[in-house]
This record gives sequence, C-alpha cells and structure tokens, in this order.
Amino acid sequence: MGKLAFIDRALADLREKGLYNTIRMIDSASDAWVTIDGRRVLNMCSNNYLGFANDDRLRAAAKRAIDEYGVGPGAVRSIAGTMSLHIELEKRIAEFKGAEAALSVQSGLNTNLATIPLLMGKEDVIFTDELNHASIIDGVRLTKAQRAIFPHRDVGGLAEKLEEYEKVEKKLIITDGVFSMDGDLAPLPEIVELAERHGAMVMVDDAHGEGVLGSHGRGIVDHFGLHGRVDIECGTMSKAFGVMGGYIAGSANLVEYLRQQARPFLFSSAATPPDVAACIAAIDILEADDAPVRALWENADYFKAALQELGFDTGESQTPITPVMLGEAETAWAFSKRLFAEDVFGTAIAFPTVPRGRARIRVMLSAAHSREDLDFAVEKFALVGRELGVIE
Ligand SMILES: Cc1ncc(COP(=O)(O)O)c(C=O)c1O
Repeated sequence: MGKLAFIDRALADLREKGLYNTIRMIDSASDAWVTIDGRRVLNMCSNNYLGFANDDRLRAAAKRAIDEYGVGPGAVRSIAGTMSLHIELEKRIAEFKGAEAALSVQSGLNTNLATIPLLMGKEDVIFTDELNHASIIDGVRLTKAQRAIFPHRDVGGLAEKLEEYEKVEKKLIITDGVFSMDGDLAPLPEIVELAERHGAMVMVDDAHGEGVLGSHGRGIVDHFGLHGRVDIECGTMSKAFGVMGGYIAGSANLVEYLRQQARPFLFSSAATPPDVAACIAAIDILEADDAPVRALWENADYFKAALQELGFDTGESQTPITPVMLGEAETAWAFSKRLFAEDVFGTAIAFPTVPRGRARIRVMLSAAHSREDLDFAVEKFALVGRELGVIE
C-alpha cells in the first residue's frame, strides 16, 4: 500500500456515502444565465445578489485599475507598502458601514481567521451560535479560548451561557448576521442587549447581509439601527459586491490592532488592484442608488410567493435566500438533476451542510434576474415538483 492510499480510500468513501461533489464547470461570466456544458442555463444558485459580478461599471473600474496599478499587489502590505487603492477601499467601507475604520483582507473567510484568534486567548470565552459559518468555527478553533456554543438564534440559551461564564473577564459573542442555508436573521438587538448587560463584545459576520439588508444595503447593523453597539462587523466582497475580498469594520483602534498583528494581513498578500477597484465601484453604485437592492427584494418576494402558491415549503427565510425544502437528499439531488435538464441550475444541498432530512435546493435570487427569468424558473420548479411528487 502506498503512503497516499488513505486518500484513495477517503475519496471512495465519499463516493459510497453519496457525498462526492461533482462541481459544474461554467464557460461564461457569472450572471443570470450561464453557459454549462455548452448550454445556456438559468443561474439560481450564485450569491451574486445584485448582479455586480458582471456589471459594466465594475468591469470598467477593474480595467482602469490594471492600467494604473497592474495586476498584483507585489507582496504583503506590511512589507511592500500599501497601495493607495487599498486605503481608499478601507475608507469607503468604513463610511458605507458607518464605522470608524475598516481593514480589507483577501476573503470573507480570512476576516474570521484574522480577528477571532487575535482578540481571544486561553483565559477568555467565546459564545458562538451552533449554526455559525465554517469560517467562524475555524477562527474559534485557532484560539485556545473556552467555547460556549448556544442553540441556533436562542437568546435564552445565550443568556444561560453568559451567566455560566459570568466570572470570565473577556467575552466575545459571535454570530452570522444572515444564516446562509436558511436565510434567517440573527436576533441581533437582543444579542447586543445581553452583551451590554454582561460586558461581552459582539461580532457579526455580515457576509449575506451587506448589499441586502439596511439602507442601500449597508447590512444588518444598519437594518436594526445598532450603529456603535456592535464592536466588530466583518463581511465579504464576494457576494452582493460581486467581486472578492473581505473586510473588518469597527473602532479605529481595533482596526489598527488588526493591521499590526492579524496573521492573514501580515502573512498573505493583499487583494489585487482590479478586485479592489471593482469593490470601490460597487460601493459607488450602492451609495448613489438603492435600486439594485430593491430589485433583489422584489424578485425574491415574487419568486417566494409563486413557489408557496404552488405548495412548496420555502422554510423560514427572512431574506432573498430561498430554501426549497425537499426532505431526503435523494429527492434534492434528483430535483436538481431534473431542473438542470430543464435549463435551470439549482444545486442540491444535503447533509452534512444541512441536517439530515432537511435537504433542499437553495435558490439565490438576484437583481440580475428578469421577471421572465423568474417565470421560467417557477414553471420549471412546478414541472419537476409535480413529476417528483413534491407538490400536487
Ligand atoms: C457567513 C460567511 N462568512 C464568510 C464567508 C466566506 O466568504 P468568502 O467567500 O469571501 O471567503 C461566507 C461565504 O460562504 C459566509 O457565508
């Protein structure tokens, strides 16, 4: 047996358990319609909420940045110096979020890896929602801090944990803002109140909230009017902003501490100039006009209502994330396959990403979808739903 045989076994095991993921290959820009296997299919599963991933204004900004700054940042910013473009983006994010300052890093995942281990040590305790995103879980794992995992969105459960750890001096509560598989919201006002009562810091990952919630898509803190009461906001430029990169926003000192010490900032190069310029262009658009955000919500409301009318269970979502609940994994996979044959791209999500028996097609609406696109999707969901006996 070769020393890498365990990898063969692991892959065979994934196949056997039906967990092997064959990723579809796209031969076009990420947009409402994409080309897969030489066919144009309606894209119902990208996080390109506002259609910015292929927006002319972002493309033009990226091209201009290449002409002026080239394609790469050269090295990590703390060694090679920082481009004015990155500083400009950080200033713009802070203003957009209504925070004192912001730091840009390479991805949303890295925001959690940058922040959580820097702030929390062995004597401290982290309170974390049981359904928090994998990058939060990994950020927590990088610390030696005690972990108090509270039941999903359960304010009473969190209060109990806070009492249990009352004597610990440094406490951090972390939650997703919008939970990405179900589209439900963290009870942030209640979390903030509890945190204030117990002297805990609050951190929210707004990856699915920015561009979606709040005035002009400023995110969950703006949505709940909690400015100045959430210590750390982090998020991504890869979903509604349509590009790539992550940010952490908060007090000037928090951001300065991260800039001095956060490992993904110190040990990994910055986002590329075209990425950064495209992110700035996305903020320009959102600050000037909330039409893309309104179009997203109108599309989401229209699609959800149509599916519910047909008899589909669309879960408890409070956002444009629309889980079409199908029960067992086999049904979800069969559904996704049949949809694809009907020119609709909607990926099945099953265990272990969601609990057993709660498999689904996770539909992601976008401002890029036209009303005809949505009618087309509804027609195909109805067809496949009836065929598979999910609806009558
Ligand atoms: C809550 C949350 N945090 C972080 C990320 C990672 O963002 P990125 O793709 O920019 O690394 C995601 C994306 O799946 C997410 O949903």
